[in-house]
Amino acid sequence: MSTPAGPSASDDDILVSSRSFLEYQAFFDLDPQRLPARILDCCAGASGFVAEAQVRGVDAVAVDPIYSLDADSLAVRLTAGAASGTSMIDANSDRFSFDWYGTPERRAEMRRLAQSAFLADHRASPERYVDAALPELPFADASFDLALCSHLLFTWATHLDEQWHVDALVELCRVAAEVRVFPLVLQGAGRPVAFLPRLQLHLREAFGIQSEVVAVPYEFQVGAHHMLRLQRQDQAQ
Ligand SMILES: C[S@@+](CC[C@H](N)C(=O)[O-])C[C@H]1O[C@@H](n2cnc3c(N)ncnc32)[C@H](O)[C@@H]1O
Repeated sequence: MSTPAGPSASDDDILVSSRSFLEYQAFFDLDPQRLPARILDCCAGASGFVAEAQVRGVDAVAVDPIYSLDADSLAVRLTAGAASGTSMIDANSDRFSFDWYGTPERRAEMRRLAQSAFLADHRASPERYVDAALPELPFADASFDLALCSHLLFTWATHLDEQWHVDALVELCRVAAEVRVFPLVLQGAGRPVAFLPRLQLHLREAFGIQSEVVAVPYEFQVGAHHMLRLQRQDQAQ
């Protein structure tokens, strides 16, 4: 299949961020009372999701290549990621709405708390933070009930090409019974990802993976209020 953009980025080009459990709940339309037993947060960065999910009784695991870094290098990446994220929002301010958060300060506070939760849990339970990178995951088939991917696939399609997305989604569907990805637009101004419909067709025809674009109760980048939900056909309900 065609590849509109080559995978040219080093990992350093992709920002590291720290979204919260509450944000994930909205991105992926999760019911906090009925969370699946085993959840993978893949491209977890410094998200607080795994820390909080464990408190709620979920067997949660995070994957990110930044977990190879020592504590000092990790802190540098987190500081740089937060600063670049803020600059990117400022540069595209007409493309963001703070309605879901209420105020920019509330969003900043949520991120700060999520990062603290991540840092504490990363220290306390390092075995839950696996140094690995899509499109190859070190887990057996069907290890998880649900895999969540926030702000890597599609968001960074300027750097990760269409074939990389196919490989990553096939791998996520190998290790998890269901996969949810949010958002479905490019970082910055939030332009649509042109190859998304073709990717969905290819996943169905070549790999038997069904996918649907589903509206979610969250919007920050204007117009970005959909996730992609994927299941292998033999798992589909
Ligand atoms: C924008 S952050 C998102 C972090 C977190 N999911 C959140 O929403 O706050 C993107 C993350 O993807 C990670 N990443 C980059 N390449 C990756 C790969 N090939 N596989 C898994 N994660 C990757 C980066 O290290 C970074 O932490």
